[in-house]
Amino acid sequence: MAAAARRLICPSANLVDGHRAFRFDVTNSQGQTQAALALRYQGRVYAYLNACRHIPVELDWQQDGNVFDISGQYLVCSMHGAIYRPDNGVCAGGPCRGQKLVSLPVHEEDGQVWLNVIEE
Ligand code: FES
Repeated sequence: MAAAARRLICPSANLVDGHRAFRFDVTNSQGQTQAALALRYQGRVYAYLNACRHIPVELDWQQDGNVFDISGQYLVCSMHGAIYRPDNGVCAGGPCRGQKLVSLPVHEEDGQVWLNVIEE
């Protein structure tokens, strides 16, 4: 029977609005590990698979979580410059315009950021 659970990503204080994202891993249904990012934008926390929709490389090629542009309003792929909206993952410009980052369900509680997971 499936049950809802949560997995700790990081303390809420690690995510500053429009600044460095927190890198973590998730495991997909095939048991493969995938890179992911948690970030804060306009006060809310979001998380996405760290895979550009143009070519599935990590957005932060230096693996440092720096995916926001200088204005803190968009996420930028460091490979060819695709820009994504932080609040819904939609590519707003670049070679994959109109496509979306894969979002992950997260929430904040008790001063922590949690990944919502379904356990089989
Ligand atoms: S790989 Fe991200 S824009 Fe090309």
